[in-house]
Amino acid sequence: MSTQLLSQAKPKANQSELYLIGKKEKLTNFGFSKTEINYLQKRQKEGDKYILLNRFTQLIFVQFTEEWANKSVAEQLETCRGLGHKICVALNTHKYDSIFINHGNHLTETLAIAEGMALSNYQFLKYKSDVKLSNSLNQICVETETNLNKELAELQILVDAVYKARTWVNEPQSYLDAVSFAKEIKSLAISSGVKCETLTKKQIEALKMGGLLAVNLGSKTAPTFSILEYKPKNAKNKKPLVLVGKGVVYDTGGLSLKPTANSMDTMKCDMAGGAAVASAICAIAKMNLPYYVIALVPATDNRPGENAYTPGDVIKMFDGQTVEVLNTDAEGRMLLADALAYAKKYEPSLVLDFATLTGAAASAIGSFGTVCMGTADEATKNQLKIAGNLVHERLVEFPFWDDYAALIKSDLADMKNIGGPVGGAITAGKFLEKYTNYPWMHFDIAGPAYLNSPDKYRGKHGTGVGVRLIVEFVQELCKA
Ligand code: BES
Ligand code: ZN
Ligand code: ZN
Repeated sequence: MSTQLLSQAKPKANQSELYLIGKKEKLTNFGFSKTEINYLQKRQKEGDKYILLNRFTQLIFVQFTEEWANKSVAEQLETCRGLGHKICVALNTHKYDSIFINHGNHLTETLAIAEGMALSNYQFLKYKSDVKLSNSLNQICVETETNLNKELAELQILVDAVYKARTWVNEPQSYLDAVSFAKEIKSLAISSGVKCETLTKKQIEALKMGGLLAVNLGSKTAPTFSILEYKPKNAKNKKPLVLVGKGVVYDTGGLSLKPTANSMDTMKCDMAGGAAVASAICAIAKMNLPYYVIALVPATDNRPGENAYTPGDVIKMFDGQTVEVLNTDAEGRMLLADALAYAKKYEPSLVLDFATLTGAAASAIGSFGTVCMGTADEATKNQLKIAGNLVHERLVEFPFWDDYAALIKSDLADMKNIGGPVGGAITAGKFLEKYTNYPWMHFDIAGPAYLNSPDKYRGKHGTGVGVRLIVEFVQELCKA
């Protein structure tokens, strides 16, 4: 399922339309009837900026653009996405299949409206029998404008990438286990012009990825480790940007079984980081962005099978460091550590990891943003935060003082896999840091990756968070 974004010269008869109208423009210039103009003027006097006209064969949306005047660019874009969402709901409620956006020279705003509309139109109906549940809207047509062609094509790729990441997250573990996840990643990579190698259990064993193998011990399904590489000839960077994503296709907690009621219900979302990085690198390739990027996705489920790793175990990791396991539910860091250590071989300029890593990050800021921390320089951190604001995947940097590293010291091994009662998101980050020797940022998406109730164009369930942030960040790097 996809929503098409098209460039179109003129509205078709009876096609629904959106008009973006500036303060100085005359309402008589748009072909509205007298009655309609009277109505619009009355509503405008009452201070309304968004007005819906129901012509019964089409819906006409009018948005007065002065509403955006005093806002920051990021706020304007987000308001526009919200407008796109509102329009999407109205079109689907009234069963229309397409809309024409008269851009009125508000080009960036038009793209953001189209983005919000398309993202809002996502559905996951694979397991529903009732075909009538399907949204009617399937085409978003933007008034042709030469300067928009490239952007519109890139937006289509981006929207498809977010859809893909959401669908992977929404698929239950019975369909998407570590092996099928790796297969899906590979097929997307191949169709996107990205090289993809899937390490099998044998290869993972030969490499001695102790963290990933330990988590996998309680499972009947083999682990996988996907390596994606996009290296365009015209790349701006010599050393790659490496993306790492947690690919726990289901997290029961293992022998330290998840304790609280319902806390396991949504744990199919624990591969959201892996979904985001795999989908993002493929989008970057489809856009032909001149940037050398690698993505790594270690994947397994975390279960209490008879051979499961246990609290009290000591695990030798890929890089030789040892970990005292005190909670098997802190499994994400075990496999991420191996992937981060593996990333060293690329001598990366920067590594970004995305993971639904801790409940602590989710309780600290909810689903309103992503917790981040790391060792990248301030300029890089700023670029990431700016990108986060522009796509409204906002970043909150947590302190990363070494005091927190003291909390994961172990009497028995080089470190333990849990900290104390405070700073759970940060001690998890400190654990990961021990496996890095390059500039690095960690994004804990446990809060925003999966929503139980709908939030505008993010919808409900898998949000695809991370995809738009990564793509925006790389687009900016390419402009530099
Ligand atoms: N996958 C969970 C974190 C999570 C929580 C993701 C809520 C999405 C929503 C992770 O593997 C986990 O269980 N973390 C533990 C760590 C603890 C045992 C140190 C947690 O946060 O409780
Ligand atoms: Zn866990
Ligand atoms: Zn987990």
